[in-house]
Amino acid sequence: MNTKISKTTSDNLKKEIANLPTDLILIIIDHNISSLYSKVLNLQEIDGKKVIVWKAPDGEKVKNIKEYESCVEYFLDKGIHRKTHLIAFGGGATSDFAGFVAATLLRGIKWSVIPTTLLAMVDASIGGKVAINSKEVKNLIGAFHKPEHIWMNYKFLETLPPDEMKSGKGEILKYALLEKTIHDLVQSDSPMEEIINACGTFKLNLTEEDFQETGKRKILNLGHTFGHALEKIYNLSHGVAVLWGMAVMDIIYNNSKNLKTIKELKSKLNIEEEKSPWIKRDFPMDKIIELVKKDKKMVSNFDLEVIIVHEIGKPEIKTVDLETLAKDVSKVQDELKNLSL
Ligand SMILES: NC(=O)c1ccc[n+]([C@@H]2O[C@H](COP(=O)([O-])OP(=O)(O)OC[C@H]3O[C@@H](n4cnc5c(N)ncnc54)[C@H](O)[C@@H]3O)[C@@H](O)[C@H]2O)c1
Repeated sequence: MNTKISKTTSDNLKKEIANLPTDLILIIIDHNISSLYSKVLNLQEIDGKKVIVWKAPDGEKVKNIKEYESCVEYFLDKGIHRKTHLIAFGGGATSDFAGFVAATLLRGIKWSVIPTTLLAMVDASIGGKVAINSKEVKNLIGAFHKPEHIWMNYKFLETLPPDEMKSGKGEILKYALLEKTIHDLVQSDSPMEEIINACGTFKLNLTEEDFQETGKRKILNLGHTFGHALEKIYNLSHGVAVLWGMAVMDIIYNNSKNLKTIKELKSKLNIEEEKSPWIKRDFPMDKIIELVKKDKKMVSNFDLEVIIVHEIGKPEIKTVDLETLAKDVSKVQDELKNLSL
């Protein structure tokens, strides 16, 4: 089964859901989305379907074992069957969580996504990686489980707070380094919808080709090795953490060759130049290495895979050992300290 991405409106969406081959729909909705959109898009009533709704805490707060337990027990108590279809309605945190629920309920039921953030539209809702967080490290408890449909409605972006837009733009910038066509779309001030569409198609094709991330799909982890650690330490949004993560890797392994391009792309995407999150704080290498070590990109007890972009559109997957990585970071301490993007 391949995922279908389609553009839709609120009216069409209800028809699409009514056409799903099931009589039971489960909805997991971010509670902010519920407050903002239940009146204009009431999914509690769908022609011919019984609908059970779980209102989830917003954002990252949903991705934990307790919430998972409460949610699956609630659905099981209500009574579900193998043809139940689950719908995630929210940003990437909601789709990560809901996808994991769908992957595990009755050993896997079908599911679809209505992404409401820029980041979810270009990245998180696509590709079937679903997960909740362990106590310390993100996404360690998860599965691969593709959604059937991703229903895009760009209108949701009208209520998205600026910081969340910035986070999505961080991921767009990642694609612009990985893929020349996307790079050119951003550089030529193309409409945001066109850019979103290009990013989504790029990720969809790559993830259909290498679903379980044994090869090519790994390039999507550009910036994530450090990104996840920085996200945790400095409490950054996901896409912004990936942006700094890409810059750090570029400084360490690419002689800072892409920093100028990253700044240009940032400016094209209307993200203001700023100093690094560690400018007034530590860059705690021990803590970073400790978090990197627990991340999923480790391929042995000592080695991890990192992505380097030597030329736009030509990423390379490189294996480095943690000890060397720590030494390589200390060699560029000064440049890191003065980094602004
Ligand atoms: N599975 C993947 O492949 C993948 C890829 C990238 C990121 N992710 C995950 O995605 C998560 C981040 O997701 P995100 O950035 O989409 O944000 P999010 O889901 O964490 O939501 C961020 C905030 O925006 C609010 N919000 C969402 N849509 C809104 C709208 N239309 N209007 C107003 N407010 C809105 C939410 O209520 C929340 O407060 C992280 O957990 C990350 O690990 C997963």
